[in-house]
Amino acid sequence: MVESAAAEHLFLRACRRQPVPRTPVWMMRQAGRYLPRYRATRERAGGFLAMCKTPELACEVTLQPIDELGFDAAILFSDILVPIEGMGFSIDFNPAPVLANPVTTAADVARLRVPDPSESVPYVLDAVRMIRRALAGRVPLIGFCGAPFTLACYAIEGRGSKTWSTAKRLMMSEPAVGHALLDKLARTQAAYLEAQVAAGAEAVQLFDSWAGALSVHDFRELALRYARQVIELLRASPTWRGGGVPIIYFVNGCAPYLDDLPTSGADVIGVDWRVDLAEVRRRVGDLAVQGNLDPHCLYMEPEPLRQRVAEVLLAAGDAPGHIFNLGHGLEPDMDPERVRLVVDAVRELSAR
Ligand code: CP3
Repeated sequence: MVESAAAEHLFLRACRRQPVPRTPVWMMRQAGRYLPRYRATRERAGGFLAMCKTPELACEVTLQPIDELGFDAAILFSDILVPIEGMGFSIDFNPAPVLANPVTTAADVARLRVPDPSESVPYVLDAVRMIRRALAGRVPLIGFCGAPFTLACYAIEGRGSKTWSTAKRLMMSEPAVGHALLDKLARTQAAYLEAQVAAGAEAVQLFDSWAGALSVHDFRELALRYARQVIELLRASPTWRGGGVPIIYFVNGCAPYLDDLPTSGADVIGVDWRVDLAEVRRRVGDLAVQGNLDPHCLYMEPEPLRQRVAEVLLAAGDAPGHIFNLGHGLEPDMDPERVRLVVDAVRELSAR
């Protein structure tokens, strides 16, 4: 059966901290503009959102990096903002996300719905089923969502920001509004992940890409608490498949919060490049760790790049429970041949 074959896959084994013959590798944003085939598909689709909403095309671009570069896991092609459309947000990508109706008041938050994913994002669930069929057990499929704090940043600001000061201002000046928004986002994302798992996702990742903007105190109150709510709701859901689906919590800029991360309830902690993996492994103790090559290393010449891969593997150490990844996503101008070099180097240098 495809299911049990995939369950033995080294990515899932590493998530569970079981021994593996070599370190599994995948990369955030592994499906994207750095691949010429992705750009061709997007052209044909008529844009990014159209691609997300057409299961055949989402399936096609999810598989492109698996076929071309040999990653050890596939990640569903979509975006963290896609499932909040059904809450009442009007979203566009150019290519960065823009929300036409960000929330600013208690009444705005009260109007937001917590939608049923089978009604709000049927095309995502169809894509998950289609991707599982197309992968046929070759590598596991990772589903994902945005963590509530990171989604709240977009929900309030309406677009990207370096400081997220408008979002922080609302959460600080009107905490009840901020918490009501975070709670609705958490319930929406838990239902969304639950539906992805029911449709066939074999692991899930929560992206807390902008939590690094917070003090330790506010990280606990505004980010960690709501990521934990998503994870608790997911584990309590009727369709939850026991301990079989690893949950990854990725926090960009995680260094100040390392000692808190194990309380998220996740099985795997995803970390950015600013932290030393040896230190992370000491401090997150019993959990698996994912990361953490600086994506900008992909602009290096082949030999120094290989050396950096070796350094990440050395810092990760020999204990089971490391998944190789970048510390953040691939950029559109990165060279697919350098990406291939990293994948090949991980395979070769981590062989046990
Ligand atoms: O390959 C994969 O990783 C799966 C697909 C995926 C996308 N976005 C596709 C995408 C995933 C997992 C995401 C998550 C996402 N989206 C995050 C969390 C990860 C992170 O990067 O921190 C965030 C913060 C977003 C919000 C977002 N969406 C931004 C900031 C942008 C613009 C950035 C850019 O690359 O220009 C997007 C658009 C987006 N999401 C693109 C892709 C492939 C580019 C759109 C295009 O091709 O036109």
